[in-house]
Amino acid sequence: MKVTVFGIGYVGLVQAAVLAEVGHEVVCVDVNAERVENLKQGDIPIYEPGLTPLVQSNYEAGRLQFTTDAAFGVKHGKVQFIAVGTPPDEDGSADLQYVLAVAKTVATYMESAKIIVDKSTVPVGTADKVAACVAEVLAERGVDVGFDVVSNPEFLKEGAAVADCQRPDRIVIGTDNPAVENTMRELYAPFNRNHEKLIVMDVRSAELTKYAANCMLATKISFMNEISNLAEKLGADIEKVRQGIGSDPRIGYHFIYPGCGYGGSCFPKDVQALVRTAEKVGYTPELLKSVEAVNSRQKEKLFTHVEAYFKGDLQGKRIALWGLSFKPNTDDMRDASSRVLMEKLWAAGASVQAYDPEAMNETQRIYGTRPDLSLMGTKESALNGADALVVCTEWNAFKAPDFELIKEALSHPVIFDGRNLYDPVLLEEQGIAYYGIGRGRSVQSFS
Ligand code: NAD
Ligand code: UDX
Repeated sequence: MKVTVFGIGYVGLVQAAVLAEVGHEVVCVDVNAERVENLKQGDIPIYEPGLTPLVQSNYEAGRLQFTTDAAFGVKHGKVQFIAVGTPPDEDGSADLQYVLAVAKTVATYMESAKIIVDKSTVPVGTADKVAACVAEVLAERGVDVGFDVVSNPEFLKEGAAVADCQRPDRIVIGTDNPAVENTMRELYAPFNRNHEKLIVMDVRSAELTKYAANCMLATKISFMNEISNLAEKLGADIEKVRQGIGSDPRIGYHFIYPGCGYGGSCFPKDVQALVRTAEKVGYTPELLKSVEAVNSRQKEKLFTHVEAYFKGDLQGKRIALWGLSFKPNTDDMRDASSRVLMEKLWAAGASVQAYDPEAMNETQRIYGTRPDLSLMGTKESALNGADALVVCTEWNAFKAPDFELIKEALSHPVIFDGRNLYDPVLLEEQGIAYYGIGRGRSVQSFS
Protein backbone atom coordinates (compact mmCIF):
# COMPACT_ATOMS: atom_id res chain seq x y z
CA MET A 1 0.00 0.00 0.00
CA LYS A 2 1.15 3.56 -0.64
CA VAL A 3 1.52 5.47 2.61
CA THR A 4 2.67 8.99 3.44
CA VAL A 5 3.92 9.99 6.88
CA PHE A 6 4.09 13.66 7.85
CA GLY A 7 6.66 14.23 10.63
CA ILE A 8 9.90 12.23 10.76
CA GLY A 9 10.44 12.20 14.52
CA TYR A 10 10.44 9.35 17.03
CA VAL A 11 6.99 8.17 16.01
CA GLY A 12 6.91 9.02 12.30
CA LEU A 13 10.33 7.64 11.44
CA VAL A 14 9.96 4.39 13.37
CA GLN A 15 6.43 3.73 12.10
CA ALA A 16 7.46 4.55 8.52
CA ALA A 17 10.47 2.22 8.63
CA VAL A 18 8.46 -0.62 10.14
CA LEU A 19 5.70 -0.21 7.52
CA ALA A 20 8.29 -0.15 4.71
CA GLU A 21 9.96 -3.28 6.10
CA VAL A 22 6.77 -5.31 5.52
CA GLY A 23 6.49 -4.07 1.94
CA HIS A 24 4.46 -0.85 2.03
CA GLU A 25 5.75 2.04 -0.09
CA VAL A 26 6.30 4.88 2.35
CA VAL A 27 7.08 8.52 1.68
CA CYS A 28 8.11 10.59 4.71
CA VAL A 29 7.58 14.36 4.58
CA ASP A 30 9.14 16.80 7.03
CA VAL A 31 9.50 20.57 7.10
CA ASN A 32 12.99 20.16 8.56
CA ALA A 33 15.13 20.14 5.38
CA GLU A 34 18.33 19.32 7.26
CA ARG A 35 16.72 16.26 8.82
CA VAL A 36 15.50 15.09 5.41
CA GLU A 37 18.93 15.57 3.81
CA ASN A 38 20.67 13.75 6.66
CA LEU A 39 18.28 10.83 6.39
CA LYS A 40 19.00 10.55 2.69
CA GLN A 41 22.71 10.29 3.61
CA GLY A 42 21.90 7.50 6.10
CA ASP A 43 22.31 9.80 9.12
CA ILE A 44 19.53 8.91 11.58
CA PRO A 45 18.48 11.88 13.76
CA ILE A 46 17.62 9.91 16.90
CA TYR A 47 19.14 7.03 18.86
CA GLU A 48 16.76 4.09 18.90
CA PRO A 49 17.98 0.47 19.03
CA GLY A 50 17.63 -1.29 15.67
CA LEU A 51 16.45 1.79 13.80
CA THR A 52 19.53 2.65 11.75
CA PRO A 53 19.80 -0.60 9.74
CA LEU A 54 16.01 -0.70 9.30
CA VAL A 55 15.92 2.81 7.84
CA GLN A 56 19.00 2.38 5.71
CA SER A 57 17.98 -0.97 4.18
CA ASN A 58 14.46 0.19 3.34
CA TYR A 59 15.75 3.48 1.92
CA GLU A 60 18.21 1.59 -0.28
CA ALA A 61 15.42 -0.78 -1.38
CA GLY A 62 13.36 2.26 -2.45
CA ARG A 63 10.45 1.43 -0.12
CA LEU A 64 11.22 4.41 2.13
CA GLN A 65 11.66 7.93 0.77
CA PHE A 66 12.37 11.23 2.51
CA THR A 67 11.28 14.58 1.17
CA THR A 68 10.27 18.12 2.04
CA ASP A 69 8.00 18.12 -1.02
CA ALA A 70 4.54 18.03 0.54
CA ALA A 71 2.74 17.98 -2.85
CA PHE A 72 4.65 14.81 -3.79
CA GLY A 73 3.83 13.28 -0.40
CA VAL A 74 0.13 14.03 -0.65
CA LYS A 75 -0.06 12.64 -4.18
CA HIS A 76 1.70 9.42 -3.12
CA GLY A 77 -0.26 7.97 -0.23
CA LYS A 78 -3.78 6.63 -0.07
CA VAL A 79 -3.20 6.84 3.68
CA GLN A 80 -1.73 10.08 5.06
CA PHE A 81 -0.35 9.80 8.57
CA ILE A 82 -0.03 12.89 10.75
CA ALA A 83 2.86 12.16 13.16
CA VAL A 84 3.99 15.65 14.12
CA GLY A 85 4.53 16.99 17.63
CA THR A 86 1.74 18.11 19.96
CA PRO A 87 3.75 20.02 22.60
CA PRO A 88 2.08 21.76 25.52
CA ASP A 89 1.02 25.34 24.92
CA GLU A 90 1.18 28.00 27.67
CA ASP A 91 -1.64 26.49 29.76
CA GLY A 92 -0.61 22.84 29.25
CA SER A 93 -3.19 22.05 26.55
CA ALA A 94 -1.90 20.16 23.51
CA ASP A 95 -0.80 22.66 20.88
CA LEU A 96 -2.46 21.51 17.65
CA GLN A 97 -0.79 23.98 15.30
CA TYR A 98 1.48 21.37 13.67
CA VAL A 99 -1.32 18.82 13.29
CA LEU A 100 -3.62 21.38 11.70
CA ALA A 101 -0.80 22.64 9.47
CA VAL A 102 -0.45 19.13 8.06
CA ALA A 103 -4.23 18.85 7.63
CA LYS A 104 -4.14 22.08 5.64
CA THR A 105 -1.21 20.85 3.54
CA VAL A 106 -2.97 17.59 2.69
CA ALA A 107 -6.12 19.48 1.73
CA THR A 108 -4.11 21.94 -0.36
CA TYR A 109 -2.67 19.24 -2.62
CA MET A 110 -5.15 16.37 -2.59
CA GLU A 111 -6.76 15.49 -5.91
CA SER A 112 -8.17 12.08 -4.93
CA ALA A 113 -9.79 10.54 -1.86
CA LYS A 114 -7.50 10.18 1.15
CA ILE A 115 -7.59 8.59 4.56
CA ILE A 116 -6.02 11.03 7.01
CA VAL A 117 -4.76 9.29 10.12
CA ASP A 118 -4.11 11.12 13.40
CA LYS A 119 -1.10 9.21 14.76
CA SER A 120 -0.01 12.11 16.97
CA THR A 121 -1.40 12.14 20.50
CA VAL A 122 -4.30 14.59 20.24
CA PRO A 123 -7.15 15.64 22.53
CA VAL A 124 -10.65 14.32 22.05
CA GLY A 125 -12.32 16.29 19.29
CA THR A 126 -9.17 16.80 17.20
CA ALA A 127 -10.32 14.52 14.38
CA ASP A 128 -13.34 16.82 14.02
CA LYS A 129 -11.01 19.83 13.88
CA VAL A 130 -8.81 18.15 11.26
CA ALA A 131 -11.91 17.27 9.21
CA ALA A 132 -13.22 20.84 9.43
CA CYS A 133 -9.85 22.23 8.38
CA VAL A 134 -9.60 19.88 5.38
CA ALA A 135 -13.18 20.59 4.33
CA GLU A 136 -12.59 24.34 4.50
CA VAL A 137 -9.49 24.23 2.28
CA LEU A 138 -11.16 21.89 -0.21
CA ALA A 139 -14.15 24.25 -0.39
CA GLU A 140 -11.83 27.22 -1.00
CA ARG A 141 -10.14 25.28 -3.78
CA GLY A 142 -13.51 24.20 -5.21
CA VAL A 143 -12.30 20.60 -5.20
CA ASP A 144 -14.81 17.86 -4.43
CA VAL A 145 -12.94 14.75 -3.24
CA GLY A 146 -13.80 12.53 -0.31
CA PHE A 147 -11.72 12.06 2.80
CA ASP A 148 -11.91 10.39 6.18
CA VAL A 149 -10.15 11.22 9.41
CA VAL A 150 -9.12 8.24 11.54
CA SER A 151 -7.66 8.18 15.04
CA ASN A 152 -4.82 5.66 15.32
CA PRO A 153 -2.81 6.57 18.44
CA GLU A 154 0.71 5.28 18.91
CA PHE A 155 1.75 3.34 22.01
CA LEU A 156 5.47 2.82 21.34
CA LYS A 157 8.03 3.34 24.12
CA GLU A 158 11.27 5.09 23.35
CA GLY A 159 14.25 2.77 23.64
CA ALA A 160 12.06 -0.11 22.42
CA ALA A 161 10.24 1.75 19.66
CA VAL A 162 11.14 -0.56 16.76
CA ALA A 163 10.15 -3.70 18.65
CA ASP A 164 6.94 -2.05 19.90
CA CYS A 165 5.91 -1.09 16.35
CA GLN A 166 6.83 -4.47 14.94
CA ARG A 167 4.99 -6.35 17.67
CA PRO A 168 2.33 -3.99 19.04
CA ASP A 169 0.21 -5.06 22.04
CA ARG A 170 -2.78 -3.56 20.30
CA ILE A 171 -3.64 -1.37 17.34
CA VAL A 172 -6.39 1.09 18.17
CA ILE A 173 -8.42 2.32 15.20
CA GLY A 174 -11.02 5.02 15.68
CA THR A 175 -13.47 5.17 12.79
CA ASP A 176 -17.16 4.66 12.08
CA ASN A 177 -16.58 3.90 8.41
CA PRO A 178 -16.34 0.15 7.55
CA ALA A 179 -14.47 0.83 4.28
CA VAL A 180 -11.83 2.82 6.16
CA GLU A 181 -11.63 0.09 8.78
CA ASN A 182 -10.89 -2.40 5.99
CA THR A 183 -8.08 -0.26 4.59
CA MET A 184 -6.55 0.08 8.05
CA ARG A 185 -6.86 -3.69 8.52
CA GLU A 186 -5.04 -4.24 5.23
CA LEU A 187 -2.32 -1.77 6.23
CA TYR A 188 -1.72 -3.44 9.58
CA ALA A 189 -2.33 -7.06 8.47
CA PRO A 190 1.39 -7.97 8.72
CA PHE A 191 1.30 -6.96 12.42
CA ASN A 192 -1.97 -8.69 13.17
CA ARG A 193 -1.07 -12.29 12.51
CA ASN A 194 -1.11 -14.48 15.60
CA HIS A 195 -4.05 -13.04 17.42
CA GLU A 196 -6.42 -10.15 16.84
CA LYS A 197 -4.75 -6.92 17.84
CA LEU A 198 -7.00 -4.42 16.15
CA ILE A 199 -9.41 -2.73 18.50
CA VAL A 200 -11.85 -0.72 16.46
CA MET A 201 -13.95 1.96 18.13
CA ASP A 202 -15.42 5.38 17.53
CA VAL A 203 -12.98 8.25 16.97
CA ARG A 204 -13.49 10.00 20.32
CA SER A 205 -12.97 6.83 22.32
CA ALA A 206 -9.76 6.14 20.39
CA GLU A 207 -8.50 9.65 21.11
CA LEU A 208 -9.27 9.27 24.82
CA THR A 209 -7.74 5.76 24.95
CA LYS A 210 -4.29 7.17 24.28
CA TYR A 211 -4.48 9.70 27.12
CA ALA A 212 -6.06 7.18 29.46
CA ALA A 213 -3.21 4.70 28.84
CA ASN A 214 -0.46 7.22 29.50
CA CYS A 215 -2.24 8.72 32.50
CA MET A 216 -2.81 5.29 34.03
CA LEU A 217 0.91 4.46 33.71
CA ALA A 218 1.91 7.86 35.08
CA THR A 219 -0.51 7.33 37.97
CA LYS A 220 1.14 4.03 38.88
CA ILE A 221 4.53 5.73 38.97
CA SER A 222 3.38 8.71 41.03
CA PHE A 223 1.61 6.36 43.42
CA MET A 224 4.83 4.44 43.98
CA ASN A 225 6.81 7.63 44.36
CA GLU A 226 4.34 8.81 46.98
CA ILE A 227 4.68 5.52 48.88
CA SER A 228 8.49 5.76 48.54
CA ASN A 229 8.46 9.15 50.25
CA LEU A 230 6.41 7.64 53.02
CA ALA A 231 8.78 4.65 53.23
CA GLU A 232 11.66 7.06 53.63
CA LYS A 233 9.99 8.73 56.61
CA LEU A 234 8.86 5.45 58.16
CA GLY A 235 12.18 3.61 57.81
CA ALA A 236 10.81 1.05 55.32
CA ASP A 237 12.45 -0.02 52.07
CA ILE A 238 10.31 0.71 49.01
CA GLU A 239 12.13 -1.97 47.00
CA LYS A 240 10.81 -4.62 49.38
CA VAL A 241 7.37 -3.03 49.27
CA ARG A 242 7.47 -2.99 45.45
CA GLN A 243 8.09 -6.72 45.35
CA GLY A 244 5.49 -7.31 48.02
CA ILE A 245 2.74 -5.59 46.07
CA GLY A 246 3.87 -6.44 42.53
CA SER A 247 3.50 -10.13 43.29
CA ASP A 248 -0.27 -9.58 43.39
CA PRO A 249 -1.27 -10.12 39.73
CA ARG A 250 -3.99 -7.50 40.13
CA ILE A 251 -1.21 -4.96 40.69
CA GLY A 252 1.63 -6.46 38.64
CA TYR A 253 5.31 -5.56 38.46
CA HIS A 254 5.12 -3.14 35.53
CA PHE A 255 5.44 0.59 36.08
CA ILE A 256 5.78 0.44 39.84
CA TYR A 257 9.44 1.38 39.92
CA PRO A 258 9.97 4.38 42.17
CA GLY A 259 12.53 6.89 40.99
CA CYS A 260 13.43 10.51 40.44
CA GLY A 261 10.20 11.20 38.56
CA TYR A 262 8.86 10.36 35.13
CA GLY A 263 10.05 12.36 32.14
CA GLY A 264 10.05 12.07 28.38
CA SER A 265 7.95 13.54 25.64
CA CYS A 266 4.71 11.86 26.65
CA PHE A 267 3.76 11.39 30.31
CA PRO A 268 4.38 14.96 31.54
CA LYS A 269 2.65 16.62 28.61
CA ASP A 270 -0.15 14.09 28.26
CA VAL A 271 -1.16 14.19 31.94
CA GLN A 272 -1.21 17.99 31.74
CA ALA A 273 -3.18 17.96 28.49
CA LEU A 274 -5.85 15.63 29.90
CA VAL A 275 -6.16 17.85 32.96
CA ARG A 276 -6.80 20.84 30.67
CA THR A 277 -9.23 18.84 28.52
CA ALA A 278 -11.19 17.89 31.65
CA GLU A 279 -11.23 21.45 32.95
CA LYS A 280 -12.48 22.73 29.60
CA VAL A 281 -15.56 20.51 29.93
CA GLY A 282 -16.13 21.61 33.52
CA TYR A 283 -14.66 18.61 35.31
CA THR A 284 -11.93 18.87 37.96
CA PRO A 285 -9.62 15.84 37.60
CA GLU A 286 -8.32 15.70 41.19
CA LEU A 287 -6.39 12.46 40.72
CA LEU A 288 -4.59 13.57 37.55
CA LYS A 289 -3.65 16.90 39.10
CA SER A 290 -2.09 15.04 42.02
CA VAL A 291 -0.24 12.68 39.69
CA GLU A 292 1.36 15.72 38.09
CA ALA A 293 2.08 17.46 41.42
CA VAL A 294 3.69 14.34 42.93
CA ASN A 295 5.88 13.99 39.85
CA SER A 296 7.04 17.62 39.89
CA ARG A 297 8.04 17.23 43.52
CA GLN A 298 9.74 13.90 42.83
CA LYS A 299 11.93 15.45 40.16
CA GLU A 300 13.42 17.65 42.89
CA LYS A 301 14.07 14.68 45.15
CA LEU A 302 17.70 14.07 44.18
CA PHE A 303 18.57 17.72 44.61
CA THR A 304 16.89 17.74 48.03
CA HIS A 305 19.00 14.74 49.08
CA VAL A 306 22.24 16.28 47.78
CA GLU A 307 21.46 19.62 49.40
CA ALA A 308 20.66 17.96 52.74
CA TYR A 309 23.85 15.91 52.63
CA PHE A 310 25.98 19.00 52.06
CA LYS A 311 24.00 20.88 54.72
CA GLY A 312 22.73 23.46 52.24
CA ASP A 313 26.18 24.52 51.06
CA LEU A 314 26.64 23.54 47.42
CA GLN A 315 28.72 26.55 46.41
CA GLY A 316 31.77 25.29 44.50
CA LYS A 317 30.82 21.61 44.85
CA ARG A 318 31.45 19.33 41.86
CA ILE A 319 28.79 16.71 41.28
CA ALA A 320 29.37 13.69 39.04
CA LEU A 321 26.19 12.80 37.17
CA TRP A 322 25.58 9.46 35.48
CA GLY A 323 22.63 9.44 33.08
CA LEU A 324 21.10 12.42 31.28
CA SER A 325 18.40 10.90 29.06
CA PHE A 326 14.89 10.54 30.55
CA LYS A 327 15.25 6.74 30.42
CA PRO A 328 17.84 4.25 29.13
CA ASN A 329 18.33 3.36 25.44
CA THR A 330 17.38 6.78 24.14
CA ASP A 331 19.12 10.10 23.65
CA ASP A 332 15.88 11.97 24.37
CA MET A 333 16.19 14.59 27.10
CA ARG A 334 12.66 16.00 26.89
CA ASP A 335 11.46 16.63 30.45
CA ALA A 336 14.31 14.48 31.81
CA SER A 337 14.79 14.50 35.60
CA SER A 338 18.50 15.13 35.03
CA ARG A 339 17.61 18.59 33.73
CA VAL A 340 15.78 19.56 36.90
CA LEU A 341 18.71 18.32 38.98
CA MET A 342 21.39 20.09 36.93
CA GLU A 343 19.51 23.37 36.83
CA LYS A 344 18.96 23.32 40.60
CA LEU A 345 22.62 22.42 41.23
CA TRP A 346 23.78 25.27 39.02
CA ALA A 347 21.43 27.71 40.75
CA ALA A 348 22.96 26.62 44.08
CA GLY A 349 26.50 27.29 42.83
CA ALA A 350 27.57 23.69 42.13
CA SER A 351 29.04 22.40 38.89
CA VAL A 352 28.24 19.13 37.09
CA GLN A 353 30.52 16.54 35.46
CA ALA A 354 28.14 14.44 33.39
CA TYR A 355 28.27 11.25 31.38
CA ASP A 356 25.56 9.48 29.39
CA PRO A 357 26.08 6.66 26.87
CA GLU A 358 23.97 8.39 24.17
CA ALA A 359 22.68 11.80 25.26
CA MET A 360 25.91 13.84 25.30
CA ASN A 361 25.25 15.59 21.97
CA GLU A 362 21.69 16.34 22.99
CA THR A 363 22.88 17.82 26.29
CA GLN A 364 25.38 19.97 24.40
CA ARG A 365 22.63 21.08 22.01
CA ILE A 366 20.34 22.06 24.89
CA TYR A 367 22.81 23.73 27.26
CA GLY A 368 25.68 24.73 24.95
CA THR A 369 29.05 25.40 26.52
CA ARG A 370 28.96 26.65 30.11
CA PRO A 371 31.60 26.70 32.83
CA ASP A 372 29.51 24.72 35.32
CA LEU A 373 28.88 21.77 32.95
CA SER A 374 31.62 19.35 31.85
CA LEU A 375 30.58 16.60 29.46
CA MET A 376 32.92 13.67 30.13
CA GLY A 377 33.90 10.85 27.79
CA THR A 378 33.43 7.99 30.26
CA LYS A 379 31.56 7.29 33.47
CA GLU A 380 34.89 6.93 35.27
CA SER A 381 36.25 10.30 34.12
CA ALA A 382 33.04 11.96 35.34
CA LEU A 383 34.12 10.96 38.88
CA ASN A 384 37.52 12.65 38.79
CA GLY A 385 37.74 15.42 41.34
CA ALA A 386 33.99 15.22 42.06
CA ASP A 387 32.52 15.53 45.55
CA ALA A 388 29.61 13.13 45.09
CA LEU A 389 27.94 10.87 42.51
CA VAL A 390 24.31 11.09 41.41
CA VAL A 391 22.69 8.47 39.15
CA CYS A 392 19.67 9.69 37.19
CA THR A 393 19.14 7.03 34.50
CA GLU A 394 19.33 3.24 34.80
CA TRP A 395 21.57 2.52 31.78
CA ASN A 396 23.01 -1.02 31.94
CA ALA A 397 26.50 0.51 31.99
CA PHE A 398 25.78 1.93 35.46
CA LYS A 399 24.41 -1.22 37.07
CA ALA A 400 27.63 -2.87 38.25
CA PRO A 401 30.27 -0.16 38.67
CA ASP A 402 33.64 -0.47 40.37
CA PHE A 403 32.70 0.78 43.84
CA GLU A 404 36.34 0.87 44.98
CA LEU A 405 37.10 3.28 42.16
CA ILE A 406 34.10 5.41 43.04
CA LYS A 407 35.21 5.54 46.65
CA GLU A 408 38.73 6.57 45.73
CA ALA A 409 37.68 9.17 43.14
CA LEU A 410 35.09 11.07 45.17
CA SER A 411 36.12 13.54 47.85
CA HIS A 412 32.97 12.47 49.75
CA PRO A 413 32.27 8.77 49.13
CA VAL A 414 28.53 9.14 48.61
CA ILE A 415 26.08 7.98 45.94
CA PHE A 416 22.62 9.47 45.38
CA ASP A 417 20.79 6.83 43.39
CA GLY A 418 17.68 8.09 41.55
CA ARG A 419 16.79 4.62 40.22
CA ASN A 420 17.57 2.35 43.19
CA LEU A 421 20.21 0.44 41.24
CA TYR A 422 22.43 -0.45 44.18
CA ASP A 423 22.21 -2.42 47.39
CA PRO A 424 22.34 -0.04 50.39
CA VAL A 425 23.79 -2.71 52.69
CA LEU A 426 26.56 -3.63 50.25
CA LEU A 427 27.55 0.00 49.81
CA GLU A 428 27.49 0.61 53.53
CA GLU A 429 29.86 -2.34 53.95
CA GLN A 430 32.17 -0.78 51.35
CA GLY A 431 32.18 2.50 53.24
CA ILE A 432 30.10 4.43 50.73
CA ALA A 433 27.18 6.52 51.95
CA TYR A 434 24.08 5.67 49.92
CA TYR A 435 20.85 7.59 49.40
CA GLY A 436 18.30 5.88 47.20
CA ILE A 437 14.64 6.66 46.65
CA GLY A 438 12.44 5.51 49.52
CA ARG A 439 15.06 3.30 51.12
CA GLY A 440 14.39 4.06 54.74
CA ARG A 441 17.55 2.49 56.04
CA SER A 442 19.94 4.88 54.34
CA VAL A 443 17.97 8.05 54.63
CA GLN A 444 17.66 7.75 58.39
CA SER A 445 21.34 8.52 58.61
CA PHE A 446 20.65 12.09 57.42
CA SER A 447 19.50 12.96 60.90
P1 NAD B 1 9.18 14.72 17.24
O1 NAD B 1 9.29 16.09 17.78
O2 NAD B 1 10.29 13.74 17.45
O3 NAD B 1 8.95 14.80 15.65
C1 NAD B 1 8.02 15.63 15.04
C2 NAD B 1 8.49 15.89 13.60
O4 NAD B 1 7.44 16.58 12.92
C3 NAD B 1 9.72 16.78 13.50
O5 NAD B 1 10.71 16.17 12.69
C4 NAD B 1 9.20 18.07 12.84
O6 NAD B 1 10.14 18.73 12.03
C5 NAD B 1 8.04 17.53 12.03
N1 NAD B 1 7.04 18.50 11.61
C6 NAD B 1 6.54 19.56 12.30
N2 NAD B 1 5.63 20.21 11.54
C7 NAD B 1 5.54 19.55 10.37
C8 NAD B 1 4.76 19.73 9.20
N3 NAD B 1 3.87 20.73 9.09
N4 NAD B 1 4.92 18.86 8.17
C9 NAD B 1 5.82 17.86 8.26
N5 NAD B 1 6.58 17.63 9.35
C10 NAD B 1 6.44 18.47 10.40
O7 NAD B 1 7.82 14.14 17.78
P2 NAD B 1 7.49 12.64 18.29
O8 NAD B 1 8.16 12.38 19.59
O9 NAD B 1 7.68 11.71 17.16
O10 NAD B 1 5.94 12.78 18.62
C11 NAD B 1 4.97 12.94 17.58
C12 NAD B 1 3.59 12.71 18.16
O11 NAD B 1 3.48 11.35 18.60
C13 NAD B 1 3.26 13.55 19.40
O12 NAD B 1 1.90 13.88 19.38
C14 NAD B 1 3.56 12.62 20.56
O13 NAD B 1 2.81 12.92 21.70
C15 NAD B 1 3.12 11.29 19.98
N6 NAD B 1 3.79 10.12 20.58
C16 NAD B 1 5.13 10.18 20.85
C17 NAD B 1 5.76 9.06 21.40
C18 NAD B 1 7.22 9.09 21.75
O14 NAD B 1 7.66 8.20 22.48
N7 NAD B 1 8.00 10.05 21.27
C19 NAD B 1 5.02 7.89 21.64
C20 NAD B 1 3.66 7.87 21.31
C21 NAD B 1 3.06 9.00 20.79
C1 UDX C 1 5.50 6.22 27.30
C2 UDX C 1 4.52 5.05 27.24
O1 UDX C 1 5.07 3.93 27.96
C3 UDX C 1 4.25 4.66 25.79
O2 UDX C 1 3.28 3.63 25.73
C4 UDX C 1 3.73 5.89 25.06
O3 UDX C 1 3.48 5.61 23.69
C5 UDX C 1 4.72 7.04 25.17
O4 UDX C 1 4.98 7.31 26.57
P1 UDX C 1 8.13 6.51 27.04
O5 UDX C 1 7.89 7.90 27.51
O6 UDX C 1 8.97 6.31 25.84
O7 UDX C 1 6.74 5.78 26.76
O8 UDX C 1 8.86 5.69 28.21
P2 UDX C 1 8.37 4.85 29.51
O9 UDX C 1 9.12 3.59 29.53
O10 UDX C 1 6.91 4.78 29.62
O11 UDX C 1 8.96 5.75 30.70
C6 UDX C 1 8.46 7.07 30.92
C7 UDX C 1 9.08 7.62 32.18
O12 UDX C 1 8.58 6.92 33.32
C8 UDX C 1 10.61 7.50 32.24
O13 UDX C 1 11.16 8.70 32.77
C9 UDX C 1 10.84 6.35 33.20
O14 UDX C 1 12.06 6.45 33.88
C10 UDX C 1 9.66 6.51 34.14
N1 UDX C 1 9.27 5.25 34.81
C11 UDX C 1 8.79 4.21 34.08
C12 UDX C 1 9.37 5.17 36.20
O15 UDX C 1 9.80 6.12 36.87
N2 UDX C 1 8.96 4.01 36.81
C13 UDX C 1 8.47 2.94 36.12
O16 UDX C 1 8.11 1.94 36.76
C14 UDX C 1 8.39 3.04 34.71
